[in-house]
Amino acid sequence: MLVDGYKRPIKDLRISVTDRCNFRCVYCMPHDEYEWIDKKEILTFEEITRLARLFARLGVDKIRLTGGEPLMRRNLELLIAQLSSIEGIKDICVTTNGSLLADKVAGFKAAGLKRINVSVDTLKPEKFKEICKRGDLDKVLEGLFAAQKQGLHPIKVNAVIERGVNDDDIVELVEFSRDNGFFMRFIEYMDVGNTNSWTSEKLVSKKEIVEKINARFPLREVGRENGSAPAVDYEFVDGRGEVGIVASVTEPFCSTCNRARLTADGKLVTCLFSSTGHDLKALLRGGSSDEEILNFITGIWQVRKDRYSSERLEALQSSTYDPKHTSS
Ligand code: GTP
Ligand code: 5AD
Ligand code: SF4
Ligand code: SF4
Repeated sequence: MLVDGYKRPIKDLRISVTDRCNFRCVYCMPHDEYEWIDKKEILTFEEITRLARLFARLGVDKIRLTGGEPLMRRNLELLIAQLSSIEGIKDICVTTNGSLLADKVAGFKAAGLKRINVSVDTLKPEKFKEICKRGDLDKVLEGLFAAQKQGLHPIKVNAVIERGVNDDDIVELVEFSRDNGFFMRFIEYMDVGNTNSWTSEKLVSKKEIVEKINARFPLREVGRENGSAPAVDYEFVDGRGEVGIVASVTEPFCSTCNRARLTADGKLVTCLFSSTGHDLKALLRGGSSDEEILNFITGIWQVRKDRYSSERLEALQSSTYDPKHTSS
């Protein structure tokens, strides 16, 4: 089995299908204008599928489509269908802002998609606008319910919590998800994004989030899915569902990180916080054989020693922390 420098296998491939987004969330894309990657530099569905098949041979069994906003990529259902046919891939998921979901989810379902994660940081329309800058909450909620109608399950609702912005929305989001059968997840605000001016004061810790929820809806810890998921899950003691917390800052999960990332322009990135990637597109377009590409990926993974979140916690604890600004 292929493992990295800390004996971590490669199991999960997060594929960015576009760097573009129709939102400008303050914690991710705080600027109005960005220079997008040139269309011809973006991997085609055939190129992505070829790579995914090679990653599956190395141990990947789970694929997530991300962006930017993945639904900005035209005909995404065609890619979902191609990926669904790869031997060894047990799970395909999309992480989306939900704004384009209502019109597209039936096609995704038909292509083989079983579940989806949708970001909703607040249920207050005006605050939603303040956080995401563009788009409407109503359209996102419409997408969420359309996904439910199609039978996607579970539907996870992601909320990034920022102090003074939406920490007062936590209980309302929990109530909403419990009432509607969604799996609510809260995410500690991280220092990723395009210079998102992260400070530790803006962070609401997992501990605080859990305390807030527990005071209203008593919780019992369940743990991490497969032992390696970013989220720690809790179930409601009354049996009405679950909630998860992604505590990348206060309880890093690097020691079990089995995630590889493929950028929209075909670079293999071995950590969310890494500012460099390894150019797989050059191999694809330069005529390399499957074996050559497999060897290249293997060589990169074998020497992987990323543990950015763990290092960040150590630095925060010793007051030597200097936020690093990379793109998510
Ligand atoms: P599930 O498989 O449905 O549990 O999804 P997931 O939590 O792995 O993926 P999702 O795209 O919903 O991500 C939720 C949050 O976790 C986002 O804020 C991601 O940026 C963050 N996240 C996912 N993987 C990593 C990781 O490897 N490192 C860090 N630091 N954060 C991650
Ligand atoms: N901190 C935490 N989560 C973030 N996301 C984007 N930027 C940040 C950040 N700075 C989340 C989105 C979405 C997922 C893909 O990553 O809200 O749920
Ligand atoms: Fe777009 Fe998602 Fe980033 Fe918001 S968090 S700007 S929806 S990519
Ligand atoms: Fe993995 Fe890097 Fe996230 Fe740690 S910070 S869990 S190594 S992606």
